Amino acid sequence: MKLEPQLVSPFPVPTRFEGEVVIVTGAASGIGKACALRFAQEGASVACLDVQDAANEATAHACRVMGVGARALHCDVTNPDHVHEVTKQVIEEWGKVDVLVAAAGIYSGGWLEEVTLAQWQRALQVNLTGVFLCVQAVTPVMRRRARGSVIALSSMAGKTSWAGTHEYSAAKSGVIGLVHSAAMELAPHGVTVNAVCPGNTLTELLLGVAQHVAAREGITPEAWLDRRARECPMRRLAQPWEIAGVVAFLASPDARFITGQAIEVDGGFVMS
Ligand SMILES: NC(=O)c1ccc[n+]([C@@H]2O[C@H](COP(=O)([O-])OP(=O)(O)OC[C@H]3O[C@@H](n4cnc5c(N)ncnc54)[C@H](O)[C@@H]3O)[C@@H](O)[C@H]2O)c1
Repeated sequence: MKLEPQLVSPFPVPTRFEGEVVIVTGAASGIGKACALRFAQEGASVACLDVQDAANEATAHACRVMGVGARALHCDVTNPDHVHEVTKQVIEEWGKVDVLVAAAGIYSGGWLEEVTLAQWQRALQVNLTGVFLCVQAVTPVMRRRARGSVIALSSMAGKTSWAGTHEYSAAKSGVIGLVHSAAMELAPHGVTVNAVCPGNTLTELLLGVAQHVAAREGITPEAWLDRRARECPMRRLAQPWEIAGVVAFLASPDARFITGQAIEVDGGFVMS
């Protein structure tokens, strides 16, 4: 199995977001990076938020190379002051926020007796509270302009689960609950809120999961990834650009009447 992540779609893409301003959290790597590149490719100005400054700047640079405005902004999504300060900066510079993609996330797992309270709390802080803080920060400007799309990265682990995935699954299910409530509140104001639930996607996070779970099962990370690919009805892992394409669709005019959904992009994994 080839384990080479592809961040950019090999197919022609439209240019649906010219003049729009997009905030992407977790933009330094994986799905967040693929989303930043996709919106840049489609003409948007992109604010890249992450805690990994050098990698985040590389994403912003790659966006600027495509001819759009892009800024790398240091932001820990668990820190309300960071989130509000950075959102303020984006609005001061670009005047608005059309789209929020909340992709920052971490994985941790373990058997019930092993999961420490700190580990549990950290997973919820980054994967759930981080999304809440970002949604809360962009809500006033989207509500005022009666326009906006929020797309939060949940996971197929938010729809189903496996042994030893407690805190990650709980956080990802929580994201779906948050999306439902925010969608209800913002629907009358012309703002859509949806979740995307990826299956196993070739990113640093997945390679970390592979190492963690494979060690627990006494197999190699490659063997675990290979098994996950075979368990998927489409018999493969996802590429980051395949998730970014659905995120972009949800922010596009074609998706204006879709809200409160948690869309599986998992090759049929949860269904099976
Ligand atoms: N890769 C998968 O198989 C998969 C499957 C389902 C869901 N997801 C979800 O997709 C999202 C993106 O994951 P990925 O696979 O691209 O992972 P990744 O590790 O490649 O990227 C995650 C990014 O989030 C950033 N980040 C972590 N904590 C942060 C914080 N406190 N503040 C700001 N940034 C922070 C990291 O620095 C990193 O750049 C996550 O929410 C993840 O849970 C991934």
